[in-house]
Amino acid sequence: MYSVPKLKSYSAAALDKAANGVKEELHRQVEQLATAKVKERSGKAAPDLKVFRDEWMARTNGVVTQLNESWLKSAPTKHKRDVGKVVNELRTYITEQVGNALEGLPSITRVSDAGLRRILGVRDEDLDHLDITLPGTRRHLGAEHPVIKTLHQIVSVFRNLGSSVQEGPVIETDYYNFEALNFPPDHPARDTQDTLFIARQESKPQRERLLLRTHTSPVQIRTMEKMKPPVRIVIPGKVHRNDPPDASHSPMFHQVEGLAVDTNITFCDLKGTLDHAMKALFGSSVKTSFRPSFFPFTEPSAEMMVSCFICGGSGARGSEPCRPCKQTGWIEILGCGMVDPNVYGFVDYDPKKVSGFAFGMGADRIAILKYGVDDIQLFFNGDVRFLEQFG
Ligand code: DAH
Repeated sequence: MYSVPKLKSYSAAALDKAANGVKEELHRQVEQLATAKVKERSGKAAPDLKVFRDEWMARTNGVVTQLNESWLKSAPTKHKRDVGKVVNELRTYITEQVGNALEGLPSITRVSDAGLRRILGVRDEDLDHLDITLPGTRRHLGAEHPVIKTLHQIVSVFRNLGSSVQEGPVIETDYYNFEALNFPPDHPARDTQDTLFIARQESKPQRERLLLRTHTSPVQIRTMEKMKPPVRIVIPGKVHRNDPPDASHSPMFHQVEGLAVDTNITFCDLKGTLDHAMKALFGSSVKTSFRPSFFPFTEPSAEMMVSCFICGGSGARGSEPCRPCKQTGWIEILGCGMVDPNVYGFVDYDPKKVSGFAFGMGADRIAILKYGVDDIQLFFNGDVRFLEQFG
């Protein structure tokens, strides 16, 4: 049975401290009741709620009555006001807390499992299937597609050399894809890129007809039209050709193009830049080699080869022939050359003042070599079992 301590001082701090003491005792008892209620569920005796209520609220000698008698009535007149305030506050507090405890506690014990499920919003049917000991649903993290990863790697090599990234439309006009790149209409060089045209455009002039771009080179023209030299750009993107799909061909594939135009750019700059890029991509021990070629938009033009980074240039892997380099020790990796002066005529650059080099490479082919994949179709038919190996 709790009895309220007598007040020894009437200062605000002392009254506060005394009131807090009473509240603490109340909290202690409420907690004790709650614990006893939980224990009751496992067979222990129920707490006597009436005893608790009477201890705090009974007219004779309940705590509220004690506060009136021992604190308020016996307080010197000059402190009655302050003490009255504290006692009133405490009375409200105690009435509320005791009420809550008496209402809340029995109801907790009355909640059945079904009631609890209702409160939690769990339907009985769900509960039958709910086994919290089972492992949760695992979410797979996405991974960058190997071709996109390769595109990014190539682009970052040239960005590190100071190039900015440019992109252009996949549906392109004949003018940008061919004419401005010095492929005249009906020129046989057009036949090297089997083109997919958009249907029913016969009524348009040829240069306006739409097609799926066959290479990323048109972005060279689009960039030079809007930018004066010096130009240093790298152009990743998707291209299409009417090639039937097989292990090394796909009607859709990816290229990375590069262009540098400035005063006094020479073939040595081209060789040095590409040699550095290949070492960055395939390892510092690879060598590069150039052989003459032809592209309408570069003069002179070249094909660049890298020493086979799979067999180290020997053409063999142990006693087996090296397939990726067809036992030659070299892999053809890109086309390049010095920008043909005719191209400058299309973009209003002065060929007497500027010179530049360009190059273009197939990113899918590089991905095939880098990852040792033997069929380009695997990249595009969306089989997760294949793709997740690159995660
Ligand atoms: N556009 C050419 C192709 O797809 C590749 C190429 C060759 C791009 C030489 C160039 C270049 O920029 O200079 O076959």
